[in-house]
Formats: sequence, C-alpha cells, structure tokens
Amino acid sequence: MTHLTPQSGFLQSYRICAAAEPWMQAGARDLRERVFVQEQGVFAGHDRDAIDDIALPLVAIAENATGGPIVVGTVRIHEPTPGVWWGSRLAVAPEWRRVGKLGSELIRLAVGTARARGAVEFHAHVQRQNVVLFRRLHWVVEAEMDLHGLPHAHMLASLTHYVPIDDPAAGWRISAPGPVEGSA
Ligand SMILES: CC(C)(COP(=O)(O)OP(=O)(O)OC[C@H]1O[C@@H](n2cnc3c(N)ncnc32)[C@H](O)[C@@H]1OP(=O)(O)O)[C@@H](O)C(=O)NCCC(=O)NCCS
Repeated sequence: MTHLTPQSGFLQSYRICAAAEPWMQAGARDLRERVFVQEQGVFAGHDRDAIDDIALPLVAIAENATGGPIVVGTVRIHEPTPGVWWGSRLAVAPEWRRVGKLGSELIRLAVGTARARGAVEFHAHVQRQNVVLFRRLHWVVEAEMDLHGLPHAHMLASLTHYVPIDDPAAGWRISAPGPVEGSA
C-alpha cells in the first residue's frame, strides 16, 4: 500500500521542458547517474556516451523542500539520420515515479518535439518492464533483444498520436501529487 507524505496531499506543480539552462542539464546528468549507475547498475561510473554530444536533453522539474527547482525526470532525443529519431536514458527519480505521470509526459515531449522537427520515425530501446507503459502510449514492439545484460524491446512510436511541439524549451506545467514516502 502506498502512503503519501503530508505535503503530497496537496498538488505540486511540475514543469516538463527542454533542458535549456546549465542547471537543468547538470540535474539530468546527476539523475541519470543515480538511476542507471547506482540504482540499476547498468553502467559503471557514469552513463554518458557520444550521443550526449548531439542529443537534446528534456527534463521534468519539481520543487524541493525549500521551494527550489530540482530535476526529477529526464530523457534525451537525437536524430542519427534525417527524419529518424531516437529517445534514450528515460528516468524519473524513484520517489517521483507513478505519482505525476512524469515518465509519460517526458515521452510526450520527446516524440512531439521530434515530430515538429520532421520526424518520420521515432525509436527507443525499452527495458522489458516498461513495455506496458510504452504500449499504452501507442508504441509497438519491433524486436526483442538483450542490451547491457538486460532484456529490452526495440519499440516504435505511432507518430499520429503525438501533437507536434514547436517550442520544447517553453514546455508546459502539470499539477500532480508530491513524492511517495519511503521509496527514495
Ligand atoms: C520508466 C519510468 C521512467 C516511468 O516513470 P513514471 O513517472 O513512473 O511513469 P508514469 O507515471 O508516466 O507511468 C507509470 C505507468 O507505468 C507503469 N509502471 C511504471 N513503473 C512501474 C513499476 N515499477 N511496476 C509496474 N508498472 C510500472 C505503470 O503502468 C504505471 O501506470 P499506473 O500509474 O497507471 O499504474 C520510471 O519507472 C523509471 O525511471 N524507471 C527506472 C529507469 C528506467 O527503467 N528507465 C527506462 C528505460 S527504458
């Protein structure tokens, strides 16, 4: 059973946007390390690679205990060949999972941004436990494989279900409950 903190009885405001400022990019880097290195052990030391040199990072921002902004979700998108886009390194901080649909909102921003930039395909390698989430968001499985020692699905987004987003830096705000107690 899930117990919410007293603060989470109130709706929090979250911002979903491109990581246009250095503190947002640093927050996304830290969160990726927390999730993919420390929590999942998928990478040792850090998870950065050459795609980071060309990718656009996107973030979900919440407020910390003193009202300051913190990055609690991230994903990156890139276009290795014209019209063909990929999303990767989707992560939401453990205590913010399944409380605000932040993962789903980041996927909406990722695919919508790519659509506005001319995407004709949008791909991702999705960890098996997250396939249900992506299917619900109108993605289909193309193939299954092991990556980094974990079972993954190569999935494709159905682009017509995603509204093009011309200005990802502006993004949008959502209201949702706060973090879940004890899952940090
Ligand atoms: C995948 C991830 C980004 C989803 O973030 P999120 O903010 O919880 O996603 P949403 O709230 O939009 O969607 C949650 C839905 O996904 C599914 N889901 C997410 N986490 C789940 C879990 N641990 N167990 C079962 N279902 C889960 C559920 O269907 C849930 O829907 P519900 O709220 O109606 O039950 C987050 O769980 C995460 O960072 N996981 C660790 C890193 C990772 O796996 N990255 C993705 C690599 S492909």
